Formats: sequence, structure tokens, C-alpha cells
Amino acid sequence: MKRIIIAIDGPAASGKSTTAKLLARKLGYLYLDTGAMYRACALAAKRRNIDIDDDDALKDLILNTHVLIQNTEQGNITLLDSEDVSTAIREPDISLLASAISAKAIVRTKMVELQREMGKMGGVVLDGRDIGTVVFPEAELKFFIVAPVQVRAERRFLELQEKGLSPVFEEVLEELQKRDKADSSRALAPLIPAQDAIEIDTGPLTIEGQVEELYQHYQKRMAEL
Ligand code: CDP
Repeated sequence: MKRIIIAIDGPAASGKSTTAKLLARKLGYLYLDTGAMYRACALAAKRRNIDIDDDDALKDLILNTHVLIQNTEQGNITLLDSEDVSTAIREPDISLLASAISAKAIVRTKMVELQREMGKMGGVVLDGRDIGTVVFPEAELKFFIVAPVQVRAERRFLELQEKGLSPVFEEVLEELQKRDKADSSRALAPLIPAQDAIEIDTGPLTIEGQVEELYQHYQKRMAEL
């Protein structure tokens, strides 16, 4: 059976990665979390104390940093120069820095190139902000996942609590709003639905319900191909 490219885009904490991961598992596809790659770039900049507005320093960092997503039996791990940074990149301060660094052309060019290389054979689910519009505009199936910001903030709040952190709800909400605004209004690869994306509101759905809905669209699309 043909192994296609599935693009899942949408705002922060809309349920993209959970859905993408489970859908990929169900289909026996590779899952590629592109947000993790921008998060790894942000972590690299933070660790080396680089001002991301300093173009030369940023260029030097990006050209000499190796970011890789590895699929393992336990799921995806994010490697930064061979170090597993999967946990470190989920820190709340990295989220905003990832959003800021991902607006830089040098960063996007390198990450998009890596993403295309990893996904070009098909049989892959990618999630991010610009997968259906920029990375793989030719993807056979595209989704744009949304949910009300209040619902997304509650989800992220619980996620952080489960990690043993002590988040403040208002701060989580504010961070998501800031990031949504920055991601949607930037000049390069802004967060917008591709014209042929199927919009799914995960607000009223359970995780199983989300995966099932996407799976049904997948089956319908496969019957057309
Ligand atoms: O998981 P969450 O929705 O909080 O964010 P993420 O998917 O890990 O992405 C972190 C940040 O990376 C986003 O706020 C975007 O600014 C950026 N990003 C991007 O620009 N393009 C992508 N394809 C994926 C993420």
C-alpha cells in the first residue's frame, strides 16, 4: 500500500503531537515532531548564551549544531549534538525561545532541509506549524488542529503539573497567547492553514476520538489515491 506524507499543523498545545504520535503508531509510520527540532535549537542558543538577534553568532551556532530526531522503541528522542535533550527542551522558558528562534531564516532553512530529508520517502506523520504550507506542500493528507485557547492552556497546565513542575495557570495561558501571536504574525512560514487542510477542533474530543477522526480521513484519502 502507498505510504503517504501526513502533515499536522496547528497552534501550541492543540493536541497535534499526541494525535500525530498515536496516528503514526496505528499506521506503522514514522513520527516527526518538528517543534522538538526548534526547541533543540533554542536550547543550544540558551546553553551557549547566544543572542539570537546577533545574526553572525546565530549562523555560527546553527551551522555547527547537529539536531536529530531518532525513532526508538520507546518513542521519539531529540538529540542535540548526540546528547538526548528530550526532557530539557520541554522546559517552559524554552517554548518562547523556540518560537523566537524559529522566526529566523537561517534556522528555518536548515531545519526544513532536515525535515524534507527525513520525510521524503513517505510513511511519515509530521507535526508543526508550516508542514502543509512550506515543508511538504505536496503532502497527500493535511490537518489543521485547533482548540479554544482556554482548553489548550488547561492541557498544557496539567502536562506541566504531571512533570512535577508548579505552573501558574495565568502564566501558562499568557505564554500560549504570546506564542500563538508570534507564530501567526511572523513573516516567514507563519502559522496558517494550508488551503487543502482539514480543520479539526479537538476541544470537544477525547484523545481516542481525535485519533479516530484523523484515521477516518486517512482511510477516505487512501481510497481516493
Ligand atoms: O508543543 P507545542 O505546541 O507547545 O510547541 P512545539 O510544536 O514544540 O513548537 C515550539 C515552537 O517551535 C512553536 O511555538 C513554533 O514557533 C516553532 N515551530 C515552528 O516554527 N515550525 C514548526 N514546524 C514547528 C514548531
